[in-house]
Amino acid sequence: MESKNVYNGQVLVAGATGKTGQWVVKRLLHYGVPVRVFSREKDKALRLFGEGVEIITGKIQSASDIARAVCGCDAVISALGSSSYSGESSPADVDRDGVKRLVDEAAKAGVKHFGLVSSLAVTRWYHPLNLFGGVLLKKWEAEEHVREVFSQPAHSYTIVRPGGLKDGEPLQHKLHVDTGDRLWSGWINRSDVAELLVIALWVDKAKNKTFEVINESEEEQSGLEQYFDLLPE
Ligand SMILES: NC(=O)c1ccc[n+]([C@@H]2O[C@H](COP(=O)([O-])OP(=O)(O)OC[C@H]3O[C@@H](n4cnc5c(N)ncnc54)[C@H](OP(=O)(O)O)[C@@H]3O)[C@@H](O)[C@H]2O)c1
Repeated sequence: MESKNVYNGQVLVAGATGKTGQWVVKRLLHYGVPVRVFSREKDKALRLFGEGVEIITGKIQSASDIARAVCGCDAVISALGSSSYSGESSPADVDRDGVKRLVDEAAKAGVKHFGLVSSLAVTRWYHPLNLFGGVLLKKWEAEEHVREVFSQPAHSYTIVRPGGLKDGEPLQHKLHVDTGDRLWSGWINRSDVAELLVIALWVDKAKNKTFEVINESEEEQSGLEQYFDLLPE
């Protein structure tokens, strides 16, 4: 059975126009959660989401833009991701500094929960993906900041470290979850990553957890809540 939404707060989605971010927005709307998206391109966000979601335009480099976006939100989910070696879409600017700035402005604004899309292998400096601007190392630094800031009393976080991302509908695979960054490879649908981060808003066992996740086998799921039971306390 699908997870029953008991969450009433407003959620800001950063990176909402990306492939995973779009699924985060879709799954929030599926559960009737009010959504606000933060995008650098208003037209793109409007084209994707129409008038049904609130759109705040701004840059992840600007603390004041972010402050406008997080104001009044109860939770933030970040699906931000870099796309070039250098400049404003680099791992340093987006995966590390952008996420850290988002965390700081969210905490200042009284946001209570932070969800983050990270990656398998973030603890491995020697991973070949680090040839791309040290992307995994930058994500690790951002993760550490999330854990530090959002483990304060009355706050919480959920960090999902997916394997390689694929497109496709949610709830079509049995998942394998693990902790300690021990998995070397595997795939997962972006839609399932989104689903995990969305239900983490109201599933207690998802709070203050960092975990890896990949597909185990094709098998329709009635919900994903049970995977949080498999994580150590
Ligand atoms: N690809 C994989 O196999 C894989 C595996 C594990 C983890 N991940 C991670 O999972 C996350 C989501 O991946 P994805 O494939 O969904 O990513 P994506 O489609 O590339 O989306 C990335 C999002 O980040 C936004 N963004 C990029 N640079 C920005 C900037 N300077 N300012 C503001 N927003 C910016 C993009 O905005 P625009 O839409 O405006 O460009 C987009 O919304 C990423 O962190 C990625 O590194 C990916």
